Amino acid sequence: MGKVIYLDNSATTMVLPEVAEAVRETMTVTYGNPSSLHGMGVAAERILRRAREEVADLLGAQPGEIYFTSGGTEANNWALRGLAHALKRRGRHIITTAIEHASVLEACRLLEREGFSVTYLPVDSQGIVRLEALEQALREDTILVSVMSVNNELGSLQPLEEIASLIAARSPALFHVDHIQGYGKIPLPIKKLNLAAVSLSAHKIHGPKGVGALYLRQGIRIEPLLVGGDQERGLRAGTENVPGIAGFGVAAALARKALPGSTEKMHRLKIRLAEGLLEGIPGAHLNGPEPQTGAPHILNISFPEVKAEVLVHMLEERGIYVSTGSACHSRRQEVSHVLKALGIPLKYMEGAIRISLSQLNTEEEIDEAVRSIKECVEELRRL
Ligand SMILES: Cc1ncc(COP(=O)(O)O)c(C=O)c1O
Repeated sequence: MGKVIYLDNSATTMVLPEVAEAVRETMTVTYGNPSSLHGMGVAAERILRRAREEVADLLGAQPGEIYFTSGGTEANNWALRGLAHALKRRGRHIITTAIEHASVLEACRLLEREGFSVTYLPVDSQGIVRLEALEQALREDTILVSVMSVNNELGSLQPLEEIASLIAARSPALFHVDHIQGYGKIPLPIKKLNLAAVSLSAHKIHGPKGVGALYLRQGIRIEPLLVGGDQERGLRAGTENVPGIAGFGVAAALARKALPGSTEKMHRLKIRLAEGLLEGIPGAHLNGPEPQTGAPHILNISFPEVKAEVLVHMLEERGIYVSTGSACHSRRQEVSHVLKALGIPLKYMEGAIRISLSQLNTEEEIDEAVRSIKECVEELRRL
């Protein structure tokens, strides 16, 4: 592969060398089963304990509140279904937003089929949940509110403090946050927000794929999603993915060390990128929040008269990797449910690309990407 400019970090990130080394070591040296009584098992158990501390530290939680999962999708499924089932005697109403990740939305659809009712809150033109809609939706029998901290397609930040206050004032509902795009990038005051559950994923912070975690506040009751073993305090059965978890721990420790410089750097690069594209390409249209606000690493921008898929492939030929909408949907060639929820015209939806940064990107890469995107858009418009 020639020179690569990787700008699809909301889809996944490169594993850092220290993370890869930790994974390799737990596969080839400390490869015991944490449930085994002998020394190899004890060594593996120690690796799990250390990783749990690192993952908890980056969130500001206690290690005993972290449960490892197979990734963000499982954490979201478990939070929604596990909490709904544990609380169903108190009520059957759940609130979420129209722009959540599919792993929250599809879990809600499953719950609807089981007799729960779900309110999907609308968002404004910047992709921010409408608080007046939440105020109206909250009821005595609302058991759970699930809202993401950072939208993965737009980078919009949700007003979690206001949401937490409304919940506290109007209902006994628990509050779950999908923090998969925000973890290690923006602070989440779990205590102040009185969060019951938070979903995390390793591969968005330079950790391995297929490993994540659910934070559950001490004392919160949840139904297990997987049964058949005592792992994760009996709530998530199955031999632990020790290599993945070890890598997750190292990635979390490195992310914590890199703060706040990493966030400031991404934010600066995002503004440079946004200014370059908006000023340099006629008709370029920003979807979601203004570059100064929003998450430090995600920019969603449309170029009318250009099909996003064609642009993505043209850029790929130049070694530049971006995505159309969210990577999870982009193979299905459907219009993104997030862009639909913004209510933007079709011409902007079809030409929308998502550019997402990591702390490893450089100013030179951003300038090269701006130049290339401008040239490709001009060429496509000429055709
Ligand atoms: C906001 C959000 N939630 C959940 C997920 C799913 O996480 P995972 O890929 O670890 O299953 C993603 C991944 O793109 C995401 O961006």
